Amino acid sequence: MINVRNLVKDYGPIRAVDDVTFDVRKGDILGFLGPNGAGKSTTMKMITGFLPPTSGRTEIAGIDVAERPREAKRHIGYLPESGPLYPEMTVIEFLRFIAEMRGLSGAKAAAALDRAIELCHLRAVRHQPIETLSKGFRQRVGMAQAVMHDPPCLILDEPTDGLDPNQKQEVRRLIASMAKEKAIILSTHILEEVEAMCNRVIIIAAGRILVNETPADLLRRHPNYGAVELELAHGDTGNLRNTVKDLDGVASVESLNGKLLIRPKNQTDLKSLLWNRALAEKWPMKSLEPANLRLEDVFRNLTQKDGESIEERTPPAAREKGQTAA
Ligand SMILES: Nc1ncnc2c1ncn2[C@@H]1O[C@H](COP(=O)(O)OP(=O)(O)OP(=O)(O)O)[C@@H](O)[C@H]1O
Ligand SMILES: [Mg+2]
Repeated sequence: MINVRNLVKDYGPIRAVDDVTFDVRKGDILGFLGPNGAGKSTTMKMITGFLPPTSGRTEIAGIDVAERPREAKRHIGYLPESGPLYPEMTVIEFLRFIAEMRGLSGAKAAAALDRAIELCHLRAVRHQPIETLSKGFRQRVGMAQAVMHDPPCLILDEPTDGLDPNQKQEVRRLIASMAKEKAIILSTHILEEVEAMCNRVIIIAAGRILVNETPADLLRRHPNYGAVELELAHGDTGNLRNTVKDLDGVASVESLNGKLLIRPKNQTDLKSLLWNRALAEKWPMKSLEPANLRLEDVFRNLTQKDGESIEERTPPAAREKGQTAA
C-alpha cells in the first residue's frame, strides 16, 4: 500500500532525511521510532505529500504522490504532529468541514461523520468549541478527521502524545481495531506501545534507517536475549557462581540484586540446562526466570554511541564529495 523509495530531505545544510526506503502492506502497523529530531515527522510529511522531498519518491496504492497528489491523498488519513485544528469551530462544525473537504456530501457525509464521531468517542463533546476541549479530546478530533473518509492508509504522527494512560489505551485500541483493513504508520516514543500494537518497527536516527524488522527480532538484539535469572532460597549465590560459570553453554555470569544473571553461549536453552543441574545437585533454588528484556534497552543501544545520542549528520555538500562528517 505504501512504497517509500530513497527519500531525502535537505533543510539548507541539514540533511533531515537520508535515503529512506521501506514498504507497508495492508494489515501492517509500522512503528516509526527514533530520537527527537531523527526525521520521523519530516518523512511522514513527505509520504503524505505535505512536503516535497529533495529526492526520492512515494507511491500510495500504486499512485505516485508527486505526480498525482490529489488522488494519492484520497487514500491517506494523516494525523500531523501537534494536530492542527480550528480552535473556534465546534467539533461537529470542524468534522463537517473535513467531510466536505474530502468530497463527501448528503447522506454519505452524514454517515461518515457519524462513524468518525462514534469511532473516536466524540458524541458527548460534539457541540463544544475545540478550544475548550482537553488535550486528549483534541487528539481524538484529530483522529476523527484522519479516518473520516475511511482511507486505506493511515499516517499517525505520535497519536498518543500527551494522553493519560486510559486515553492512550483507548487510542491504541482504536488503531488496532482498524489494523486489518489498513496500512498504518505511527510514530511514537513509547516502546511498550510498539510491543503492544506494531508488527514492524523502523528505528531511524540522524535521518537514516538503522533497523527495519519485527519487534520480536528487535528483542534478539538485546544483550540479555536468552539469559535467565537464578535466585537461591538463602539469597547467597556466591558459591554457585563459579559452578555455573564453568557449565558448558554458559557465556557469562553476573551477580545482580542477589540473583545470578546468566547469559547463554550458542543459543543454549539455559532454563532446562540449569533445571536439570539444580535437581541433580539439589541447589536450594527459589526461582529461575527469563531475564527481563526491554525494547527500550535495545533502542538506547542502537541510538546512542558512548552515551551520546546519534545526532551528527553528513552535510549534503560533503556527502556528494564522498566525505563523512567530522
Ligand atoms: N522546517 C524546517 N526547517 C529546518 N529544519 C527543520 C525543519 N523541520 C525539521 N527540521 C529539522 O529536521 C530534523 C528532523 O526533524 P523532524 O521533526 O522530522 O524529527 P522527528 O524525528 O519528528 O523528531 P521528534 O521526535 O522530536 O518529533 C531536525 O534536525 C529538525 O530540526
Ligand atoms: Mg516529530
